[in-house]
Amino acid sequence: MTTTRAPAPGEFEVHPARGWFNSVFFWVMGGYINWHLHKHKTKAFADLPPTVVELGAGVGANMRYLPPDARLIAIEPNPYMHTRLRRAARRRGVDLEIRSVVGERIDLPDASAEAVISSLVLCSVGDPAAVLAEIRRILQPGGRFSFAEHVAAKRHTPTRWSQRILRRPWAWVFEGCSCERDLASVIESAGFARIDISRYRIHSPFLPFNIHIAGTATT
Ligand SMILES: C[S@@+](CC[C@H](N)C(=O)[O-])C[C@H]1O[C@@H](n2cnc3c(N)ncnc32)[C@H](O)[C@@H]1O
Repeated sequence: MTTTRAPAPGEFEVHPARGWFNSVFFWVMGGYINWHLHKHKTKAFADLPPTVVELGAGVGANMRYLPPDARLIAIEPNPYMHTRLRRAARRRGVDLEIRSVVGERIDLPDASAEAVISSLVLCSVGDPAAVLAEIRRILQPGGRFSFAEHVAAKRHTPTRWSQRILRRPWAWVFEGCSCERDLASVIESAGFARIDISRYRIHSPFLPFNIHIAGTATT
């Protein structure tokens, strides 16, 4: 099933060339990115329940972390991701439902989800705090948000300088992605009852992308 709702101003806008490019990019680079993040995702996405809501599911990078016969409700506003996402679901035996809405306005009822996951998404959303509020709204009491995201490097470091210098072309190519967000603070300020975050560095040629956090936040 696919539902569609127009984005509000400042939220995700569908762009044919970049939408398609990002779909191909994350499909081609998925294995390489996973090679860097695998250890941390395995921990953050351990013991997921049979039904999971994923924010910005892309082309299905996280389906490998779902339990067998899982049901995935994918919040994915870029329609150019959908064909590959469906293909990945068929390949992995995941029962997929795509919702073409933005994370700032998730069309699911309050307290309806046991688990929400995201990877490399909070860097791109228009309003991370609003997305976190939506995640908390849809999570059941005791529900869990598991994430693996890339964040701003420490100030006065070469990685931080690269994040600053490349911010405009990077955001243009990767549909609004910012490498300068302190997402740990955004998650910590979102009102979860318990939070476990670890910070780590990867060593990829994409220098602005190399600082990451992963963990879980429980309502
Ligand atoms: C960098 S890609 C990551 C895709 C996938 N999660 C992965 O790890 O490969 C960012 C994804 O977030 C989606 N996205 C961007 N803005 C969004 C928003 N406001 N709400 C939900 N998803 C959004 C994009 O369409 C894209 O699929």
